[in-house]
Amino acid sequence: MTSRVLVTGGAGFIGSALVKRLLDEGHIVAVLDNFWRGSMHNLRTVSAHPSLTVVQGDVVDSNDLQRAFDALGGVDVVHHLAAINGTKWFNEAAIEVIDVNINGTLAALRKAMEWGARFVLASSPEAYGDNEKMPLHHEDSSVFPAASSHQRFSYGASKYLDEVAVQHAVHQGLDARIVRPFNAYGADMVGDEYGQVVGMFFQAIRDQQPMTVHGDGTQTRSLTHIDDIVEGFYLAGSLDLGRDGTTLSGASFNLGSQEEVSMLELAARVNQTVGSLAVDCALAGGYPGDSKRRLPDIESAQKALGWSPKIPLDAGLAMVWQGLQTGP
Ligand SMILES: NC(=O)c1ccc[n+]([C@@H]2O[C@H](COP(=O)([O-])OP(=O)(O)OC[C@H]3O[C@@H](n4cnc5c(N)ncnc54)[C@H](O)[C@@H]3O)[C@@H](O)[C@H]2O)c1
Repeated sequence: MTSRVLVTGGAGFIGSALVKRLLDEGHIVAVLDNFWRGSMHNLRTVSAHPSLTVVQGDVVDSNDLQRAFDALGGVDVVHHLAAINGTKWFNEAAIEVIDVNINGTLAALRKAMEWGARFVLASSPEAYGDNEKMPLHHEDSSVFPAASSHQRFSYGASKYLDEVAVQHAVHQGLDARIVRPFNAYGADMVGDEYGQVVGMFFQAIRDQQPMTVHGDGTQTRSLTHIDDIVEGFYLAGSLDLGRDGTTLSGASFNLGSQEEVSMLELAARVNQTVGSLAVDCALAGGYPGDSKRRLPDIESAQKALGWSPKIPLDAGLAMVWQGLQTGP
């Protein structure tokens, strides 16, 4: 069935890939984005699609959300992805991060309640804070350090509060679901110093400069290809009932690869991917509060969404490299 879908942050890395998938599936889509980090370049292959409307505006502003609703003539599903993402920003722009992540979510949530639209929140593994228990189960607790220690959790703690707000809305009758992507990567990701590790490593290859590995390089991540992440969002937004018969409203889903890799190992794998263009790597930098491991327990996503990651890391890195070489 065709749905009218609003994607906040739809010009960003994950949002734009989700928009393409929704259009491919025949849905009518509005993007609300202020282009703080996203761009029309991310939507270049669908910018003239007859079922896509792009509204430039601020997700914190309910009038801008309403403009997107009006453009669609109603909203059945909201995928709420607008946020300030990127570890460097969490420390450098904590107040802006908190403002968009909390006030933007509250504004989008209130509108979804007013419209009677299904709501999918893009949360994050950062919402668990410093919890060192691995793998992270979807119902595990959040643990945060003293606020005076660093500002990293401007992001994670605001995502935690977003989840609290969503659970409140569920109690008020909203159909809302929570997804937590674990380190999404793909060819369109940001590769500058405000970006994420895979993008930065490939940027170093393109610049033929050493890859900078933070800390001692032994910290691990569960890198998850963008196609797998988009599949998880898509299922969370489109299934009425869980594949196991459970209700999806109020449920949370960790979307992450089970292939844990250290950052030094990742640098080696990126070098393998690019063959003769391999570069050196240098240990430098990092951020206070960086986590040592981040491994998801994906049980709820497997059972209720029928989701599991399909793209192994080496294949995914090869896809990124091919995309970077052939992309405009
Ligand atoms: N990329 C990941 O690995 C990852 C992991 C966990 C959670 N997430 C979450 O998924 C979502 C998408 O992440 P992403 O990696 O695509 O980030 P992104 O920065 O590429 O996308 C976020 C989008 O939100 C837009 N935006 C920012 N402030 C806005 C505002 N006030 N009004 C309207 N739009 C605004 C940006 O311009 C951007 O297009 C975010 O909510 C992020 O927190 C991402």
